[in-house]
Amino acid sequence: MANENKWGSSLAFILAMIGSAVGLGNIWRYPYVLYSNGGGAFYIPYLVAIFSLAIPFLILEYGVGYNYQSSFTKALIKIKPKFEFYGWVLPVVVFIMAVYYSTIIGWDGIYLFLSFFKGWGADPNTFLNVNLLQSTDSLSGVFNFIPFVAIFMIAGWFIIWFISHKNLDDGLGKVCKVFVPVLFVIMFFIVIFSLTLPGANIGLAELFNPNWSLLWHFDIWMAAFGQIFFSLSLGMGAGFTYASYTGDDIDLISSGLYVVIANSAFENFAALGVFSILGYMSLQSGTPVSQIITQGTTLIFVVYPQVFNVLGTIGLIAGPLFFFTVYVAGITSMLSAFEVLSISIQNKFSLTRRKATLILCLVGGFASMVYATSAGGYILGIADIFVNNIVIIFSVLVECIMFAWIFKAERLIDFLNSRSKTFKLGKWWLIHVKYIIPAILIVIWVGGLYELLSIKTTESVIIIIVLALITIISSLIFTKRPAKTKDWFETEERIK
Ligand code: TRP
Repeated sequence: MANENKWGSSLAFILAMIGSAVGLGNIWRYPYVLYSNGGGAFYIPYLVAIFSLAIPFLILEYGVGYNYQSSFTKALIKIKPKFEFYGWVLPVVVFIMAVYYSTIIGWDGIYLFLSFFKGWGADPNTFLNVNLLQSTDSLSGVFNFIPFVAIFMIAGWFIIWFISHKNLDDGLGKVCKVFVPVLFVIMFFIVIFSLTLPGANIGLAELFNPNWSLLWHFDIWMAAFGQIFFSLSLGMGAGFTYASYTGDDIDLISSGLYVVIANSAFENFAALGVFSILGYMSLQSGTPVSQIITQGTTLIFVVYPQVFNVLGTIGLIAGPLFFFTVYVAGITSMLSAFEVLSISIQNKFSLTRRKATLILCLVGGFASMVYATSAGGYILGIADIFVNNIVIIFSVLVECIMFAWIFKAERLIDFLNSRSKTFKLGKWWLIHVKYIIPAILIVIWVGGLYELLSIKTTESVIIIIVLALITIISSLIFTKRPAKTKDWFETEERIK
């Protein structure tokens, strides 16, 4: 029998990493971020973020994951036994993210279903907010459960379970090998089609019209680093975990490079598509693009349905293809988020992959039901801020210090270089992971906290406190419960 937790080939690892990176962040988030942060001028901070943070950090994460061949938590104990509690915080937070991520996948599932007959009707805005989600802008709707939404969310969890419970390469590996290329192919056709629509040039001109003066604003730099973080799933244990399943011949440096290139190519391509479509819409409706473009949720679930309505019969083909792409992109990302906590509990409590995935899917599916209420969208927005603005950046900072300083990043260089077919690491890499990245992270973290101060309704504070308590209490439980395996404190290192 194949090993429960090993990739069959380097290709499976690379495609799974691309699957993790390419997700809702690329389709749902990136086009708006690019547009609202200076258009063409955004590429400067974006590229700086890629070269100074993404590539060096990704390689560090991969290298340490490869070395320990175990979950993030177990590796952390080996680096410093006192850090077990922290070693659980990150997987738990990533799991919290997976739970709200599953909500958007569920919504997309609904739209995939509706797209076959344009079930959103003539007014997609009212349909989304009033008929479907029955959104309330506060916690008041939390007792109004919406079974229709719940069914689609549970379907998403079922798919996650179905893929994850199999041995790694038979489930996750196979799915990514088939669906990640499919994702790129469908996206390619959607974009080519969008570019041929009348008015596409209006949208593109609007998108790329650079606002250079914004370069002097701190916000656009924050936005670029935030986007790169989210989009590449940096520092959330996904890269670490996937790299721990690789074989000895893996070229981690080049893999990191391919993942970054594929991810950026995909999101920029997606942006071309989105703005061509907005240009088309603008031409049809006589409304300027700047008034049509919106944030993620409205963009995907309101603007796109409007476009499919205008497109007539073609909309019946383009619609399902589009929502299917979003669905697949979402599932392959969520699989990696799910994997981080899953492998940690497999390691500590000696559970099989089958058992661990079943338990987590049941817990996750159950917890996600809070998002299947009228207050779902509201809570989701705050959970997103909790994860992205507060916890993740801080934990990446800790991770960076643990890996680069305590573990000692220099230990990885010879091994990584010996396998690399593209470029080699040198002193510049150490300077990045030891000094530059921690410095950048501190600045972003403070900036993120500052942004947080602007939301101070009592309800949002309550939600943040509840999430923080869930994180702390469950991490404490995982830490305190005795390990079911003898080697919990003994992890072998592959790099001597
Ligand atoms: N990168 C994913 C996207 O672009 C989302 C994501 C962020 C993620 N952090 C993650 C996925 C951690 C898995 C693990 O949509």
